[in-house]
This record gives sequence, C-alpha cells and structure tokens, in this order.
Amino acid sequence: MKTKLIRINPENPEPLLVEEAARILKEGGLVAFPTETVYGLGGNGLDSEACKNIYIAKGRPSDNPLILHISQISELRPIVREIPLAAQKLMDAFWPGPLTMIFPKSQIVPLTTTGGLDTVAVRFPSHPVAKAIIRATGLPIAGPSANSSGKPSPTRASHVEFDLSGKIDMIVDGGAAEWGLESTIVDVTGEVPVILRPGAITKEMMESVVGEVMIDPAILTKPSDDLKPKAPGMKYTHYSPKAKVTLVKGNTEAVISKINELCVDERVQGKKTGVMATEKTKGCYHADVILSLGDRDKLEEIGANLFKLLRKFDYLGVDTVFSEVFPEEGEGLAIMNRLNKAAGYYRVEAEEAK
Ligand code: TXA
Ligand code: MG
Repeated sequence: MKTKLIRINPENPEPLLVEEAARILKEGGLVAFPTETVYGLGGNGLDSEACKNIYIAKGRPSDNPLILHISQISELRPIVREIPLAAQKLMDAFWPGPLTMIFPKSQIVPLTTTGGLDTVAVRFPSHPVAKAIIRATGLPIAGPSANSSGKPSPTRASHVEFDLSGKIDMIVDGGAAEWGLESTIVDVTGEVPVILRPGAITKEMMESVVGEVMIDPAILTKPSDDLKPKAPGMKYTHYSPKAKVTLVKGNTEAVISKINELCVDERVQGKKTGVMATEKTKGCYHADVILSLGDRDKLEEIGANLFKLLRKFDYLGVDTVFSEVFPEEGEGLAIMNRLNKAAGYYRVEAEEAK
C-alpha cells in the first residue's frame, strides 16, 4: 500500500485536504493525523473491519482497546449508555482537550473497538486538524497513538512515517504535537473517578472540579499478577527505544557522577552511550550522545520532548541510555510513568559523595 503524505495548516486546516482525509476514513481506510497530545491513527470507530486494520497496522494485541474521538459533545450520547455526573463536570471543564474518559459503551460500538470490553474510552481533542477531520466524517473516530505497538508515541509526522509508511492510507502532517504525551485517562464508571493513565490534566486539576480522584496504584510500579493496570495498554512495560534505558535517581551532583561512571563501564564493553539530560546539566556528562529534555523547571517542555528524544537515541544507534528523573507529582507523574515504562522500571540510586 502506498501511504499518501499531505501537509496541512495546523491552525486553519484547508477544507479540501480535510475532505480528502475524511473521505478515506468514511470508506474504511486509515489516516494518521495530529492531535494536541500525540499523532493518532484514525479509522471508523463503528466499523469492525477498520478497527481490525488498525490493530494490524500497529501490530497491536487485539485485547488493547481503542479510544473513540469526537468533535462535539453531542456526538458522545450515541456511543455511551450513560453520562455519570462526574463525567459531565469533567467534560465541562476539560473538553476539548487532553482528557479521555471511560464510559459504559452503547450497542453501536463494536467489541472490536473496545477490545472485548463493555466500556468505551472517549476523547474530544482540541487540535483544529483532528476536530475538522472528525467533524467532516460525521463518525466517532478510533484513534490509538500512530506508532508501531511498543514504540514511543509519535509527536511528529516523520515518526508516523517511520513506523507506519506502507501500512496505512494517509498521513496528515500538521507539525509537532503540542503536549507530546498521551491524554490523561480517567475511569468515571465508579463512585470515585480513577486515573488509569496520567497526562496533562492532573489529579489536582480534576479534584478542583469533582472532589476526590484516585490514581490506579499500578501506574508507577511494574505490572505484576497482584497489580494489573485497569487500562489494558498500560500493562506493556516495553514502550521504548531499542536502547536499554536506565533511570538514575538522587541529588543532581550524585546523579551526574553516577551516570558518568556508568557510561565508562558501558564504553569499556564497546557500547555506544547516551544521556538524557536537562538544560543545566547537559554540559556535565561524558557520553557518546547527550540530549537535553529542556528546562527542568518547565515540566511541559520535558513532556513535549520525551518521546522525540527516545526515538532520536534509536536513530543514532545508541545502545544504552541513562536518564535523569523528575518529581512524581503534578505533571511529573505522566513524565515518570512514561520514563519508567521506557526503562522497564529499571532504576539505580546515585549515592551522595561523602
Ligand atoms: O492522547 C491520546 O490519548 C492519544 C491520541 C491519539 O488521542 N491516543 C492514545 O491511544 O494514546 P492509545 O490507544 O495509544 O492508548 C489508549 C489507552 C490504552 O492503554 C488502552 O488500553 C486504554 O487507553 N483504553 C482504551 N479503552 C479502554 C477501556 N474501555 N477501559 C480501560 N482502558 C482503555
Ligand atoms: Mg499508544
């Protein structure tokens, strides 16, 4: 299959291009498009065949459900059985935007879309291109991240091209995704909303709207038989570059010397080393490739760059990457969740010098 690549204006998408993408989707084809979080791989969410083809293109296990994307609130009702009060409040506050909610699904949503579950994940994205394309189809659009299963989510059209070229009908290039990490997922089917995947909309932000919000305890620990994440996709630890990733924790000075020490050990074994640093520390490391995630005090910058950097280490053929860590609260929770997954939850403690 030849994948058509089109470039679109991210703020004011050209109507003719929007129509072209929408036509492919209505005919059952697959189109990758930008959203404010990461690029999504769109298909008709009510069409089992289209959804099957999404799983195939991504190489994704078919028990890992897809998110349905809508372009106005009125499109929610037909795909869910009920809209709990907490969901109503959260959507008033955060839609359109990087928040996905889990609802009991209605009859019209095929089990192929939901990976066999009786619930459905729904998101109303704010990106003008995503909104325009979905609106033009008149359909809920299934949209997992547009990467090969197991790879970091794509934040650029070039990432999608690298993973999926030849496997999907079209890639709509609308520039870099603003947030760079996937949406927050919150389950609103129970008494208290539960965060299944942390993202840009934080626990604190949601609590200011609905009161108590819980976090799935599986978010920061390695999935095990006792502690299985409730979002099926979160159980996959490998989410990562080909390089082995190790997180190094401790105060700044200790982390720098520990990473430099570890790099020496690896280089002796002939390994190409990489360090995921921040603006202030990037000059302090000795490794083959040193990349900065951005300003440590601007977590949104760190989040926006994380997946791009993980992919870059791969392009550069790095064997082993050492990364600094961030506080596991607020926006940092989403960053650390993705970093932990990239590292297969492997981290070492840097000891303070005596
Ligand atoms: O930001 C995002 O959410 C991006 C953009 C494209 O919208 N999409 C995305 O989709 O990240 P995906 O498929 O890569 O991740 C969806 C996650 C998976 O971990 C999946 O298991 C979980 O959502 N999920 C989907 N439906 C669910 C359901 N009914 N119950 C629990 N978890 C669900
Ligand atoms: Mg994904």
